[in-house]
Amino acid sequence: MKKQILLIVSGGIAAYKSLELVRILRRHDIAVRAVMTKSAAEFVTPLSLGVMTEDHVYGDMFNLKDEREIGHIQLSRQADLIVICPATANLIAKMNAGIADDLATTILLATDKPVLAVPAMNVRMWNHNATQRNIKQLREDSVMVMTPDSGAMACGEFGPGRLPEPSEITQQICTQLGVKFDATLCQGQSPTTQSNVQETITNNQALAGKHILITAGPTREAIDPVRYIANRSSGKQGFAIADAAAKMGAKVTLIAGPVSLPTPSGVERIDVESALEMQSAVNDALPADCAIMVAAVADWRAANNAEQKIKKDGDAIAPLQLIENPDILAELSQHKERPKLLIGFAAETENVLEHARTKLSRKGCDWIIANDVSTTNGQGVMGGDHNDVHIITADGEDNIDHATKERVAQTIMEKIANVL
Ligand code: C5P
Repeated sequence: MKKQILLIVSGGIAAYKSLELVRILRRHDIAVRAVMTKSAAEFVTPLSLGVMTEDHVYGDMFNLKDEREIGHIQLSRQADLIVICPATANLIAKMNAGIADDLATTILLATDKPVLAVPAMNVRMWNHNATQRNIKQLREDSVMVMTPDSGAMACGEFGPGRLPEPSEITQQICTQLGVKFDATLCQGQSPTTQSNVQETITNNQALAGKHILITAGPTREAIDPVRYIANRSSGKQGFAIADAAAKMGAKVTLIAGPVSLPTPSGVERIDVESALEMQSAVNDALPADCAIMVAAVADWRAANNAEQKIKKDGDAIAPLQLIENPDILAELSQHKERPKLLIGFAAETENVLEHARTKLSRKGCDWIIANDVSTTNGQGVMGGDHNDVHIITADGEDNIDHATKERVAQTIMEKIANVL
């Protein structure tokens, strides 16, 4: 029977080498299922690792769903060997102390399978008494700990702490599993950097055949031929989501309010100005498998869009009357062609989670992605390149802390791909 590894990737600069390790292991006909710690996802995206394992990558972000579908006990039960690569000083310390505060450490505390740890860290961290004590104890507890290579390190220092070559790690794994090691399978082009991996991601067609509808940017509500009501939305987050969806093979319709952003490649873009135009463009674009309503639609428009420029009339109060715009998202939730997955955004300035949860039920959507745009916490969110978001679903809540809008988009699309 095919041997199976449970690979735990923790957060060190060497995390990207886990991609090459997976490639070589799979060439040896060893199946690999992967778990990432939260900090590992700072170095390699779950999507990159998922492309290499051709499987879902387990982590903490979406653990409620993961735990329901395949629990941490099951993950280790299915494996012949657990490999931690890279094993950071932090993970080694937690493991030795029996701390179980995330999925990776919980698996390590609960498993009865053999464990191979492949440390990689800065030379001082490796030489530190605490790390050496931890490793000595783990070895006494029958954990196999490989000795790191010596040489120049990413941090500019020199000494022991480098991750051994993936071929060497594979050899060790093959020995443990009783699989014949073949050095020729370790050769060839490998995804050795995150940017190389980007190409591989492009080939991940997890959303092929799916139609994703996205609204983005502000709307502009005319008062007269020269004046309008608008807001500060830049459209960057919505455009980044459209880009991520297209890269995953989806057919993407992006309905954009007035923004000055280039159209992501492979995306069909429909430019609109007002909420009413956006509403009709959304209806025209149906059916869709998933709609992500990122646009900051104006809640009100001028009751009368004057044909001529409105003139000042002495001291009289400005004659601006507002009426409510249709709620495109709420209407879509009641539509006979309602997308299977309907996602709203909520830009809030106070009680972010509470307001977002109320919005989830009031608007009849499946997820609300909330962000704090108050001047104190959300400085620079509107128009900026970073975002902090909470993904609120009926099952609970996931957080994406201070990440680029591209990274937020990629994480959201990975979560969507798991559901569609
Ligand atoms: O009520 P609020 O504007 O905060 O709701 C935000 C969510 O609802 C976003 O997903 C936004 O795109 C959507 N929305 C809409 N039509 C409106 C107002 C908001 O689709 N008129």
